[in-house]
Amino acid sequence: MSNQRPRTVSGMRPTGPLHLGHYFGVLKNYVELQRTEEAYFFVADWHALTSDYADPSRVRDNIDEMVKDWVAAGLDPEQCVIFRQSAVKEHAELSLLLSMITPVSWLERNPTYKEQQQQISNKDLGNAGFLCYPVLMAADILMYKPHGVPVGEDQLPHMELTREIARRFNYLYGETFPEPQAMLTPAAKCPGLDGRKMSKSYNNGIFLSDAMSDIEAKVRGMFTDKNRLRKSDPGNPDICNLFPYHLLLSSKEEQEEIRSGCTGATFGCVDCKKRFLKHLGEFLAPLQERRATLSTERVRAILADGNDRARAFASATLEDVRAKMGL
Ligand code: TRP
Repeated sequence: MSNQRPRTVSGMRPTGPLHLGHYFGVLKNYVELQRTEEAYFFVADWHALTSDYADPSRVRDNIDEMVKDWVAAGLDPEQCVIFRQSAVKEHAELSLLLSMITPVSWLERNPTYKEQQQQISNKDLGNAGFLCYPVLMAADILMYKPHGVPVGEDQLPHMELTREIARRFNYLYGETFPEPQAMLTPAAKCPGLDGRKMSKSYNNGIFLSDAMSDIEAKVRGMFTDKNRLRKSDPGNPDICNLFPYHLLLSSKEEQEEIRSGCTGATFGCVDCKKRFLKHLGEFLAPLQERRATLSTERVRAILADGNDRARAFASATLEDVRAKMGL
C-alpha cells in the first residue's frame, strides 16, 4: 500500500447506524477518495467516549455496525486501511505529547467546544477528555502526515487547531508535519424527515440499514412544501424537504420534470414521494445486499488487518516524534 498516491485520513465517531446525511455528507467522499489516495479511515471510539463515557454499553456494537455500513457503502479494505483508533495506541501517545505544546486557551476558545457545552444538556461535558478532544483529533490526523482530511463543515475549527498544533511542533522541533487541509464534500443538503438537519439525536433519520417498509412509512410522514396542501396548489421545490433528495438521486431530466410539475401544480407530493422511494430503493438495494453478507467476524477481521497496517505507519511517526522531543 505504500505508494506514490497522496495520503488522506479521516474518522467517524461510532454513534450508531449511519443515515443518508452521513452518506451524502462524508461517506460518499470516502468511497471516492480510496481510488485516488492512500487512504486511512478509522472508527474514532476514544472520541465517542469523550462525551459518552457514562454509558459506554453501545460503543462496541456501534463500531461493528458502522464498519458494516462503510463496507456496504463501498469502502474496500483492499483499497484503503480501515482501523479502530483505540487499537493503535500510538494515537494516545501522540495525543499526550501534543498536549505538552498545546495552550489550554486554544482549547477553551474552540467554538465547537463552547457550542457543545452549551447545547448538550443531558451529559456533563466538563471532563478533561472532552476539552482535549481536538488534541486527540490532531494526533489522529498528523500521525499519517496527510495533505487533506475529508470532513464536514462542522469540523473546520478542529482542522484549524490541528494546523496550529502542527506549526507549533514544527517551530519547536523542526519541520515534521505538513499542514493538512480540510476536504469538504460539495455541500449536499440532506434534510431530516421533519425538515431539521438529519441527525440521530433528532430522531428524524433514514438509515442505510432501514428496511424499505420502514422507509415507506417514514417518507409518507415527511414534510414537503408546507404551503402546498393540495395537488392543485403550485408548490415550491426550493423550500421542499423532499426535493433535495431528487437532486441527489434522480436524473437531471427527472429533476426538471419534477420541478416544473411541482410549480405547475400537475405533479403531486404523493407521486413525488413514490418517485423518491423508487430511486432510494434502487440506491439502497445493493448496499443492503452487501451488508447482509457481512458477518461481525468478517468486520473484526477487516479491522484487525487495518489496525496492523495503521500501526506500522504510526510507529514510524512516533519514533521520529519521540526522538525530536528528547525521549
Ligand atoms: N471529530 C470528528 C467528527 O465528529 C471525528 C474525528 C476524530 C475525525 N478524529 C478525526 C475526523 C480525525 C477526521 C480526522 O466527525
